Amino acid sequence: MTLAKHEYMSDVWKDGIFNNKVVFCTGGAGTICSAQVRAMIHLGANACIIGRNVEKTERVAQEMATIRPGAKVIGIGAVDVRKFDDLKAAAERCAKELGSIDFVIAGAAGNFLASIEQLSINAFKTVMDIDIMGSYNTLKATLPYLVESGGNHRVDSETRTGGRIIFVSATLHYRGMPFQAHVSVAKAGIDSLSNSVAIEYGPRGMTSNIISPGPIAQTEGLERLLPSDAKAAYLKSQPLGRIGHVRDIADATVYLFSDSGSYVTGQTLVVDGSNWRMSGGI
Ligand code: HXC
Repeated sequence: MTLAKHEYMSDVWKDGIFNNKVVFCTGGAGTICSAQVRAMIHLGANACIIGRNVEKTERVAQEMATIRPGAKVIGIGAVDVRKFDDLKAAAERCAKELGSIDFVIAGAAGNFLASIEQLSINAFKTVMDIDIMGSYNTLKATLPYLVESGGNHRVDSETRTGGRIIFVSATLHYRGMPFQAHVSVAKAGIDSLSNSVAIEYGPRGMTSNIISPGPIAQTEGLERLLPSDAKAAYLKSQPLGRIGHVRDIADATVYLFSDSGSYVTGQTLVVDGSNWRMSGGI
């Protein structure tokens, strides 16, 4: 899907702020993550997007390469984030072809609505494997490059230049949500993983943060959770009277990866228009 600039980022950022930087993103051909990566490319980064579907991942990567003259974008399909070796090979290829990995977005996720009674043991485990193991595998495969980004040492200047990772989480687990026990458990684990990375790798110059999107238009998650005949009443119930746009998530990503976000680590940036406070999330 080709997007116009205003659809994936706002107009406030300065061109070139991510020149010579490389972003590696799992789930990178998906609706939310592709907007995050598009914004990074627009502002100077080269990118490697990872997906399970080869055709879709390569097509989106080719389209992303047209965002900025000279942009280098690699699409690596047939990668299952449950398989560490797949991710390790992808990270190696990214670093070899693009020179480094400075920013990581761990965005791949799996979800469906099911009650605890309906959830088989394997169904629960599948979401743990995709979300928690997938996030851990992504971190583990890219960590050698992230600690190298910025020199693998404590950065004492005001603007830290080390590697940065963002895990894409959710708000479901803040209050609990029916039919989402599996995802809620997984996202709570991911939030915890990010905190550990922030503390353990801060001394190596890294930052680690969570972005928790609320309801975002045109995503698979929202399509499944919000029937179209319920939409008008739903919008009326929201504090800001609207649902989110992928641009909202991309802008938050740019902030956290930019120099402006250099002192922000171990945090969760909830980008949901305060949705979860009203309804428990989504
Ligand atoms: C109950 C289900 C189910 C359903 C699958 N299962 N769908 N159980 N209700 N709707 C069960 C299967 O029966 C099986 O258990 C087990 O889960 C594994 O299913 P597979 O199809 O074999 O797994 P796989 O092919 O790996 O697919 C994984 C998936 C699939 C998660 C089930 O939906 C997927 O790949 N999704 C990726 C894309 C996606 O979901 N994107 C949305 C992310 S949105 P048994 O016992 O039969 O073997 C998101 C935001 C969260 O994450 C917050 C917003 C709400």
